[in-house]
Amino acid sequence: MEFSETVQQRHSIKSYQPDKEISDAELKELMQEVVLSPSSFNLQHWTFISVRDTEIKGKIKDAAWGQEQVGTCSVLLVICGKLNAHEDAADIYQGVDQGIQDKVLPLIKGFYDGKDQLQRDESIRSASLAAMTLMLAAQNRGWATVPMIGFDPEAVSQLVNLKSNFIPVMLMAIGFKKEEPRPRSYRRPIEEVVKINTLDGPGLMG
Ligand SMILES: Cc1cc2nc3c(=O)[nH]c(=O)nc-3n(C[C@H](O)[C@H](O)[C@H](O)COP(=O)(O)O)c2cc1C
Repeated sequence: MEFSETVQQRHSIKSYQPDKEISDAELKELMQEVVLSPSSFNLQHWTFISVRDTEIKGKIKDAAWGQEQVGTCSVLLVICGKLNAHEDAADIYQGVDQGIQDKVLPLIKGFYDGKDQLQRDESIRSASLAAMTLMLAAQNRGWATVPMIGFDPEAVSQLVNLKSNFIPVMLMAIGFKKEEPRPRSYRRPIEEVVKINTLDGPGLMG
């Protein structure tokens, strides 16, 4: 599929064929593309919890305003962000040239240590970029997705046993759509969303 076609055909799909399966092998192939997403210092703050278990899905659905797609998708991913991902830097950089490690590891520590807001922002940024890759890579395979923040984070954290150093950034339903999506929802015009040089500059006209 042409890349721009993939982008244009992606919609948030809320109605799924509940009997359709996506195997672990297929999910793994998808995730091998997803983990190619960028992250600051390559810290890869993301962890994905794959939920197919009907009972757990049902409980997550209850914690997600009863959203139907949580129950009917082929697989539900709880996309988590690791708040203290910077503490994994030594592991991540172990194969890297010693000179680079000596420079980068103290830099990472100084940048993140004790900065709770930054750690949270970063885990959300990285997990969100991975989520976008996931939606497009899934679309490219003929699967549909919908990202969700409509859920109780504490309840979902408990249901999937998150420790306090993880946050549930987003839920992602993946499956086979039941019907064609509605026409694309309104998008603000480019001249309104792209400004030249400063926020109060002119809009991009092209
Ligand atoms: C961070 C985020 C959270 C969202 N949460 C929900 C949600 O809880 N439930 C839902 O049905 N759609 C959710 N959506 C989907 C949006 O409603 C959808 O992306 C938007 O209306 C644009 O439609 P499109 O994705 O089909 O282009 C969410 C999207 C994003 C990016």
